[in-house]
Amino acid sequence: MNIVLIAGSNRRNATSTKLLRYMGEALRKRGANVKLIDLYETPVPLYSPDAEETDANTEAMVRTVGEADAIVLATPEYHGSISGVLKNALDYMGSAEFSGKPVLSVSSSGGAVGVSSLTHLQAIVRNLHGVNSPEWLSLGGDARHFAADGSPADAAVRQRVERTLDSLLRLAELLRPNAAGVKIG
Ligand SMILES: Cc1cc2nc3c(=O)[nH]c(=O)nc-3n(C[C@H](O)[C@H](O)[C@H](O)COP(=O)(O)O)c2cc1C
Repeated sequence: MNIVLIAGSNRRNATSTKLLRYMGEALRKRGANVKLIDLYETPVPLYSPDAEETDANTEAMVRTVGEADAIVLATPEYHGSISGVLKNALDYMGSAEFSGKPVLSVSSSGGAVGVSSLTHLQAIVRNLHGVNSPEWLSLGGDARHFAADGSPADAAVRQRVERTLDSLLRLAELLRPNAAGVKIG
């Protein structure tokens, strides 16, 4: 199963990106073929419907998402919504890349939990014709600490990551029965 993860922060040490990298490793251990697109490391230009050419980062992103069986989107919570960086990247895509695919939304917030960004992100996923995973995950406040090996410091967060990934993969099995199997649970 091909799974693409898109990190929607423009910050070097972003906790949303750390969470996504940890999830990517967890998915690899379950047998998935994982690709991570970090919009800080491989930025895409401001979307314009008038643009006649696309750049290499954008082309790679759109192609990778198009080839994926499942998608994970991560955003920092900014002013009760998703980052402009992630929204801009998603504006390059549509049903050709997302239709019928399971999509997991995750966020990181300064407050206790970043539900506003997740709600907004799920509305965008629905308009991209993706299928929202029934679980989501938000790291807030003190839950945003990571150990030197990249794993969340809080054991409860690590357990929640596994549960959230189980939920995504169960949905992926239903929606993409021809994709190669991964370990669930
Ligand atoms: C422009 C901006 C707006 C923010 N708005 C919110 C907000 O509405 N609610 C909140 O809980 N935290 C807010 N924060 C704090 C971030 O959500 C928090 O620092 C989060 O960990 C950032 O994610 P990152 O570590 O992936 O960059 C804001 C931060 C910035 C820079």
